[in-house]
Amino acid sequence: MTQELTTSLQAGPARSPEGTGWWRDAVIYQVYVRSFADSDGDGVGDLRGARERLPHLARLGVDAVWLTPFYASPQADGGYDVADYRAVDPLFGTLQDADDLVRTAHELGLRVIVDVVPNHTSDRHPWFLDALADRPRGAARERYHFRPGRGTGGELPPNDWESVFGGPAWTRTTGPDGTPGEWYLHLFAPEQPDLNWDCPEVREEFDSVLRFWLDLGVDGFRIDVAHGMVKAPGLPDIGRTEQAKLIGSQVLPFFDQDGVHEIHRGWRRLLDSYPGMRIGVAEAWAPSAERLALYVRPDELHQAFNFQFLKCPWDAAAMREVIDESLAATASVGAPTTWVLSNHDVVRHTTRYAEDGAGQGLRRARAAALLTLALPGSAYLYQGEELGLPEVVDLPDEARQDPAFFRTSADGQDGQDGQEGRRDGCRVPLPWSRSGPSYGFGPGGSWLPQPDGWADASVEAQTGDPESTLELYRAALALRRELPGLGDGPMSWLPAPAGVLALSRPGLVCTLNTLGEEVRLPLPGRALLSSAPLAYDAGTVRIPAESCAWWAI
Ligand code: NOJ
Repeated sequence: MTQELTTSLQAGPARSPEGTGWWRDAVIYQVYVRSFADSDGDGVGDLRGARERLPHLARLGVDAVWLTPFYASPQADGGYDVADYRAVDPLFGTLQDADDLVRTAHELGLRVIVDVVPNHTSDRHPWFLDALADRPRGAARERYHFRPGRGTGGELPPNDWESVFGGPAWTRTTGPDGTPGEWYLHLFAPEQPDLNWDCPEVREEFDSVLRFWLDLGVDGFRIDVAHGMVKAPGLPDIGRTEQAKLIGSQVLPFFDQDGVHEIHRGWRRLLDSYPGMRIGVAEAWAPSAERLALYVRPDELHQAFNFQFLKCPWDAAAMREVIDESLAATASVGAPTTWVLSNHDVVRHTTRYAEDGAGQGLRRARAAALLTLALPGSAYLYQGEELGLPEVVDLPDEARQDPAFFRTSADGQDGQDGQEGRRDGCRVPLPWSRSGPSYGFGPGGSWLPQPDGWADASVEAQTGDPESTLELYRAALALRRELPGLGDGPMSWLPAPAGVLALSRPGLVCTLNTLGEEVRLPLPGRALLSSAPLAYDAGTVRIPAESCAWWAI
């Protein structure tokens, strides 16, 4: 297949002008703390372990680190059930460890973003314990959503909302004498009661929590369920089941309500009152790129994860459409687009892309990484994707800890494809070395069993191997730092055959062949990097199946 590949470029600034914001083209690496590195051998990753491994991230070439929750928590949902927002859970270390980590990261030139979980607390949070002890309609219950049940004896939930993790979104309380009482709302697990953001005390508390971590030196927050804090007045019924399937495609009475934006505006003012450009990034599931862009208006948050891109299938036309829509939507509010392929809640993209075996998944994942890093804006990497790690799909049920697993049918009868809705398979602790009790994760075991292939996938095994995925990421990130045309700035499409995307950035062309066969193209320029070996023939290049390449022009 030979096609004309024009390399004419649109003129434009190479990068966002100095000082407009480090986040606009930052590559931010997600550390899922419990699975990154374990310093004390208890099988669970911790802050000291993470700190000791920061040099890996500096060498990888990322700009910042996002740490998932390490706060005091009963761990009903991997720490997204916080009992004390200002304390470090002993499982992960101490406040001093957090302080040391932030300091070391800064010394290495890495910024640090921490999670904040404002939609719900743990059911062990003192506020919720007070609420349970309070009388119906009492002041302590105002901080949450308590309601009497429906039905003659209050035996039915107050409305038909379903938990994202399956089952009803309401749990009935029981009084000290064993009598059933009011119900409380939890959009996630019952151990995660939703806060009532109409209560001024809730707002004041979170301002104070943000200040606490900003004073400690963090560079920003990843805001959990940033689309969920405000519920529609009267908590109206939805009128259908399987509501989780509507998330991200519809505004729901509990998700993406317009009222959340006022909260984010307040937080932006707070962030801006600190020196050094502290940022907020929204985990927001919005039905369209346009509605997602509302979260990153100039007076709101800095970034919002682009889940439309993450959900996009391996298809050139679909990818191009999502990229165009995302860029247009964020450009309309002057924000950068934030690309993401994987995180701790979804099947790893190496496995998502594998329709025809693991080899294909890895080929596509490597190509997708180069595409993502060539797009304008900021990119989030999920720990282990730089190693090309697949989802672990055969974890024994008894090892699993994800509450979503226990609240959805385990036999696949719920219409989900095995791993969907069960998030342990992407959380298996990282392999750092070929050997050792947990492949270098720590001096002990690992809280989820690691598969046999972990030795060859380890950082040690891949370092220095020019064909490894780790070296591909290192090279891509080094080029991204070096080449002014990457990161923030203009992008345009070049003509390309069906199934191929060719995009142009200042001084650079990126070609992605999504097809299962090689494609011959006129030489776009000097090859800088490619996810699979290129072959040349008299002025043309043969781009291998399912691969991506960067070209200097
Ligand atoms: C999104 C987090 O990423 C996920 O892990 C968590 O279960 C829910 N929010 C609830 O906090």
